[in-house]
Amino acid sequence: MGAALLAPARAQTAAPVQPLPFSHKVHAGAAKLPCRMCHPNPDPGDSMTIAPASVCMQCHSSIDADHPAIQKLAAFSKSAAPIPWVRVYQIPTYVSFSHRSHLKAGNACQDCHGPVATRDQLFREADISMGGCMNCHRLKKVSIDCTFCHDDLQQ
Ligand code: HEC
Ligand code: HEC
Ligand code: HEC
Ligand code: HEC
Ligand code: HEC
Repeated sequence: MGAALLAPARAQTAAPVQPLPFSHKVHAGAAKLPCRMCHPNPDPGDSMTIAPASVCMQCHSSIDADHPAIQKLAAFSKSAAPIPWVRVYQIPTYVSFSHRSHLKAGNACQDCHGPVATRDQLFREADISMGGCMNCHRLKKVSIDCTFCHDDLQQ
């Protein structure tokens, strides 16, 4: 098994340095913007995705338009390249995971990502390692068979 397969998804305490000082506490907390505004889970699809700069510019073409961080945001918006956000929660591609089915089953964002709306910077505070997945599956009486999460695992 290659080294990439061993990359840990366990909880971390340090937030990565992001290309812009984006705060969930400001946007999802104080301003009460719904998560789906920026994480729409396009249908069909299993990912929540992160909204492009054009969505941010709906507000920031006027709000704080003269601030350096917003000028940087405006430059991203004008260029074709996506904002290079550093991913916080990411699992290896050999694991099957769908937001759509987990949300349909009544799991909430904070069950797997912690109290996001109270955080200025996100860090991997919730456990999405194999053990973390299994803990909840055991609790909710969902399968923990190897092939449930690993389609083509050689055993
Ligand atoms: C619905 C409106 C709205 C949207 C959409 C929005 N923001 Fe904001 N943003 C705000 C408000 C309100 C503030 C706080 C302004 C203040 O306190 O001066 C803010 C503050 C900020 C700041 C801090 C600016 C500074 O220097 O003080 C950054 C950076 C920022 N937003 C980035 C983003 C990014 C990136 C997106 C898109 C992913 C985004 N915003 C989407 C309303 C919005
Ligand atoms: C105004 C837009 C906006 C809103 C509203 C918003 N987010 Fe985000 N979210 C972002 C941006 C931009 C990033 C990338 C930067 C970062 O990680 O902080 C992000 C990153 C994340 C990540 C980490 C993704 C990864 O793996 O790298 C999670 C989890 C998340 N958001 C959950 C939420 C939840 C839960 C809510 C609602 C409580 C929410 N977000 C509301 C813009 C938003
Ligand atoms: C059952 C656990 C679970 C729940 C519930 C959950 N997430 Fe996630 N989230 C994950 C995992 C695992 C990843 C990493 C997925 C990957 O790498 O393919 C992730 C990744 C993300 C990302 C990064 C982009 C992406 O789509 O991969 C965002 C943004 C995000 N989640 C937001 C949310 C929001 C908003 C909610 C609530 C509406 C939510 N999540 C509910 C486990 C969960
Ligand atoms: C907070 C609880 C919780 C966590 C954490 C969780 N799951 Fe689940 N998972 C569920 C529930 C509940 C279901 C049943 C959904 C249904 O009935 O369709 C489920 C169903 C599934 C399914 C079958 C449905 C589908 O999407 O194909 C897979 C695969 C799965 N989970 C993988 C994972 C992986 C991988 C992780 C960790 C990255 C994870 N789960 C973390 C609660 C959780
Ligand atoms: C509920 C989902 C789930 C189930 C069930 C599951 N796994 Fe995993 N597995 C994961 C996730 C998520 C990772 C990625 C963990 C990481 O990157 O830290 C993983 C990683 C692995 C790895 C890579 C090495 C490692 O530990 O990071 C192996 C090997 C593995 N699983 C084998 C198994 C076997 C064997 C079973 C059955 C006993 C099993 N898995 C059952 C979710 C699951």
